[in-house]
Formats: sequence, structure tokens, C-alpha cells
Amino acid sequence: MDTPVRKLRSQAWFEGAGKNAFMYRSWMKNQGFPGDLFEGRPVIGICNTWSELTPCNAHLRDLAERVRRGVYEAGGFPLEFPVTSLGESNMRPTAMLFRNLASMDVEESIRANPIDGVILLVGCDKTTPALLMGAASCDVPAIAVSGGPMLSGHHRGEIIGSGTAVWRLHEELQAGRLPVAEFLDAEAAMSRSAGTCNTMGTASTMACLVEALGVGMPENGAIPAVDSRRQVLAQLAGRRIVDLVREDVTLSKILTPAAFANAIRVNAAIGGSTNAVIHLIAIAGRLGVPLALDDWDRLGRNVPTLVDLMPSGRFLMEDFYYAGGLPVVLRTLLEHGLLDGGAMTVNGHTLGDNVAAAENVNPEVIRPWSNPLVASGGIAVLRGNLATDGAVIKPSAATPALMRHRGRAVVFEDFDDYHARIDDPDLDVDAESVLVLKNCGPRGFPGMAEVGNMGLPPKLLRQGVTDMVRISDARMSGTAYGTVVLHAAPEAALGGNLALVQNGDMIELDVDARRLVLDVDEAELARRRAAWRARERASGGYAGLYVDHVLQADRGCDLDFLVGCRGAGIPAHSH
Ligand code: FES
Repeated sequence: MDTPVRKLRSQAWFEGAGKNAFMYRSWMKNQGFPGDLFEGRPVIGICNTWSELTPCNAHLRDLAERVRRGVYEAGGFPLEFPVTSLGESNMRPTAMLFRNLASMDVEESIRANPIDGVILLVGCDKTTPALLMGAASCDVPAIAVSGGPMLSGHHRGEIIGSGTAVWRLHEELQAGRLPVAEFLDAEAAMSRSAGTCNTMGTASTMACLVEALGVGMPENGAIPAVDSRRQVLAQLAGRRIVDLVREDVTLSKILTPAAFANAIRVNAAIGGSTNAVIHLIAIAGRLGVPLALDDWDRLGRNVPTLVDLMPSGRFLMEDFYYAGGLPVVLRTLLEHGLLDGGAMTVNGHTLGDNVAAAENVNPEVIRPWSNPLVASGGIAVLRGNLATDGAVIKPSAATPALMRHRGRAVVFEDFDDYHARIDDPDLDVDAESVLVLKNCGPRGFPGMAEVGNMGLPPKLLRQGVTDMVRISDARMSGTAYGTVVLHAAPEAALGGNLALVQNGDMIELDVDARRLVLDVDEAELARRRAAWRARERASGGYAGLYVDHVLQADRGCDLDFLVGCRGAGIPAHSH
């Protein structure tokens, strides 16, 4: 007896000789599609975040064509559609404000249309989580195809990396060690090809985690954007998504608790971005997979950072790919029992099978187990009265000598206050001080700004100070570095204890003990709490909706009403 063929979702639009099917097909035929495309072929949505305002994704139309080829080759019917694009470099106040908005766009676009499975074309930081969140809430078969990193930047004989070079060159400029002309000259040198940031910033981190989660094809993490093998990957993904639809392999069958645990450990091994903490918690939330902030610390704690990439290390994504890329890291972690090699991936093979032949051809870039970049990578989750719901720090990007530190607070009430006073030669600050920035969390700076790695006071830079302890409820660019405590929750705008810090208070950071303590007695804190007044917050428009519903960083900053999977049920006809 033949296996019954599962009815495709798209057939609820295109099947039969009724009036509705006529209408759905007829309008689509204005694009010149032959009739047989509507007769039971899996319809594959190519969900594209292409935009000239998102420079990191500006090449995705070319990749969409490669996907299209693959879908046709496998007997599917590809249909490309645009969704809100999120360009990290241009969007104000921060692209993160719009991650959840884009996820809604993706979710509703999939559910409302005759789509059986999707290719998610992603690249710049927030596009990856936004599209995965949206697709996860529909739980359709999906493959994420990342745009790939830019080629390495070269400037005056030096390799310079996206973002990381900006912070460093700007500090050099501020310290009077770099002429303005040379600073400006670095602009084009840093970004010389299509693609995402070439450091292990948030975009590269998320591209690697797509591969580690099994929701992308092998090697998705590191192939440069302009390397023809990125086009091949897109074409193969196009072929494969058609099979996933036929096999009914929906996202929830790939994005399991084991897949998330794998991704957290991989994030530690690659020295990945702190933003990944927020994004993975949000993606898991869409699928009902329990993932807590403390899981990051628990799972990543003993994982060494093996990848020597900026901002934690020396090299760039191009070097990582030539060294063997993420499969080498996955294989190494598997060999040390740190991954679940049985986790299924979208190419139909397990994670373990995919990387069995991976070979490290440059142990300087991908360090061997015996000589890691950082012995214990991972994200440290700090607790204490300054962050009762947790804060994070990335030890691999921090200064070891500052990981245990006690210093007096120099407080900035918000980012404007910081800008107004940081250059002041009379600012009462020294190298031992702890810089505290308030009101930059999900609600306070709607979207949670990437300003946690606030630049050091110029007068200290001129003295040769290169790092200080910095604490905030903000995020930090994945390309940034320093002894920077982020994501303090509850945030200052909600009246978390961060809001109560005053200049001169003593603060104690102890990363080994996972402690972050404001050394002020509870009676004094209670007095300050009683005097604290909430600031006026955004109202109306999307920003108003956002601040009313955004969850705190430890819960992924999703909007409370978007958490969960609503499935891909077929909406009713309206004609
Ligand atoms: Fe787009 Fe870095 S700004 S990937």
C-alpha cells in the first residue's frame, strides 16, 4: 500500500476548480507562472531581508536567485517575499527596537500566505533572530541561510575588523595618537566587500549558532559573502527545503532543547556575542523550549574559547573559514563530550555526522583543545543586589586583572548624561572607578542600546588606561570588548537597584564568584527607592507598544504577547 501523501498547506489556496482557487491562481499567473506549478508542488517562501539600507544584507537578492534554482531543481515552487529589514549600522535608536516587529512581519506573512516551507535569508545582527522567531511561531519547515561575512579589512599593513577597529581607532584618535585623515581612511578599508561584520560580532555569532542549532546547512557560519561556495550553500538549501516540506520536518523538530544546549556551548567556544543570550532565549520562547539565563552560565562555564577571532582575539571570519570553520569547533567539542552529536539538522544528517571529517588546517586561528584562547569561555551570569534578575559579562573579551574588582561608582543617569560629561577634564574619575550607566535597558532606551561598552574618559585614555569596569542595563555590540557588565535586570527604568546607585558608592565585581554587589546597606537603598520616580516613557506608535510589553533581558526582550508558538493554521477565505 502506498504511503498516503500529506496534503500541502498551499493546496488550501491552489487546489481544485472552485472560485477561490481560480482567484488565487489567476492573480499569481500574472507573473507568468505555468499552471503545473500550482499542482501539488511544495511552495517555498524565500523570506528576504534584502535592503540597501541594510548594507550587510544588500547582496541577498543574488543569494535568493541561488535558492530559487535549488527549489526548482527539487520540484518546489519558490516565491520570494520581502520582510522588514534591520540594518544595525543605520537604524536609530537601535535595530533591536524593531527585532520583535520584524518577527511579527515574518510570522504573519508566512501564516497568511500559501507557504509550505521557508528559506530565511538573514545576515545583519537582528535579522537572524527576527526571522527565526517569526518562523518558529508558525512552526513550519525552515532553513536559515546567512549572507556570510565581509572579506577581511586591510589598512596600512594591518588587518582591521568590523566594529572592533572602530572602537580601537577612535580611542587612538581620542588619545591623540592617530591623525584624523588616517582615521577616516580606515572607513573604506574596513568594509571592502559585501557581507556582514567580519569579526565574531553578533552577525557572525548568530550565523555560527544557526549552524550549531542545526537550522542552517553545514558551513553556514563562516563562508565569506563573496565566496562562490556561499552561493552553492544557498542553492543546496533551496533543494533541501523541498525535502523538509515533504518529510514534514518543522522547526520544532530541529530546535530542540539539545540544539539550544549545543548552541550555548558553541557560543562559548567561538567567543560569541553577548547578544546571543537574549536572542536564543527569545527564539526558544517562541517554541516553548525552556531556556533560562542561568542555563548560559551552567552550560558554557567549562567550555574553552578555541576561536582566536576579534574582538576576543586576533583573526577575522575569512581566516576562520580557511582554517576549517565551525565544523572544526563542533568536532572538537563533540570529541570532548560537550555536544549532543545526535541532534538532527536540516540537511537530514546529525550534527555529529556533518562534522565527522572536519579538519583544523590552522591551529593558530582555531586553537587546539590543549591551548585555548580562554580556558573557560562562555557567558558569566552575575547576581547580587545590583542585578537581582541577573547580568552578564563575556570573560573572553574582558581584562583578567579586572575580573575581581572593587571601585567607586561614577554614575551617568542616561546616555545623554554620559555624552555630556565623559570628556570633561574635571570628571572625578580614575582608573579604579567603576563606570555606571543607567536607563539604557529595554524600556529605558527603548530597544536596549548597544552602549554598554561606553568609551573611557579621554583623560584616562591619555594616561594609557585601556580598560575599566563598566556596568549598565544596556547591551554591547558583539564587535566590542572590555570588562563590561551588561543586561542588568531589572533595568533602571523599572526601578531596579541599578537606578539607585549614586556617585561614590562602592561596587564589587567578582566574576569567579558570579557576584555583582552594590555595597550600600539595605536601609539606605530603601530610602533611595522610596525617593525614586519613574521617568516618562514612550507612548503611542510602535515604541509605545514596545515599552508596554517588552520583557526584561533575562527573558529575551520579546514582547510578552508574542511568546509562544501559534502554528501555521490556515486562515479563512475572505472572498
Ligand atoms: Fe550588520 Fe555588523 S552591522 S553585521
